[in-house]
Amino acid sequence: MKPLITVALPKGRLGNEVYEILKKSGYEMNDAESDSRKLIFEDEKNCVRFFWAKPSDVHVYVERGAADVGIIGKDILLEYEPDIYELLDLKIGKCRMCVAANDVFTDDKRKTLRVATKYKKIAKEYYMSKGRDIDIIPLNGSIELAPLLNLSDVIVDIVETGKTLKENNLVIVDKIIDISARFIANKSSYRFKEEEINKLKKALEC
Ligand code: PRP
Repeated sequence: MKPLITVALPKGRLGNEVYEILKKSGYEMNDAESDSRKLIFEDEKNCVRFFWAKPSDVHVYVERGAADVGIIGKDILLEYEPDIYELLDLKIGKCRMCVAANDVFTDDKRKTLRVATKYKKIAKEYYMSKGRDIDIIPLNGSIELAPLLNLSDVIVDIVETGKTLKENNLVIVDKIIDISARFIANKSSYRFKEEEINKLKKALEC
């Protein structure tokens, strides 16, 4: 019998897209319907086991070998730099990592810039490259609230459609980097299950 591959899928928008791609490629994912509460499901025919994880946790499962492979945003890879192989750019889940602020914002260089973000490393590296002194304000979500309530001067966050910024009178100050979803693999899994992992990679390439 072929070895079983365990795949970490990100819950949410990106996960749903991946789910559709895999279904079209012939993977049996009936147990994974979105209204189900089941966390782990098996495609016995293809010897694949899938599970849903929080998008920002996928790399933890893959790096530690609880999952052989996973789908994750490049934003998380840049922020946490897990020791994994990045095998494929899926070219879905496209968005941009940006600096944004109130539309009346001007940068007063004499003052420390207050930056709200959940991407502390990305924000620090970006401002270090500019030689700008900053104070990081760590938040876990709804980052756009920070400049609205004067908790921060700017935010560093993901912009997809731009709707959240627009509806809150915020504007992009600078784009840091383009982001998309990646197919990643545990390093030792890739050595021992290369053929099976590449089969899945091919399905995701279509
Ligand atoms: C992300 C991001 C922005 C929003 C951008 O948040 O942090 O808030 O999406 O999308 P848009 O440009 O299409 O409006 P997410 O929905 O993941 O939730 P969060 O605020 O809890 O991080």
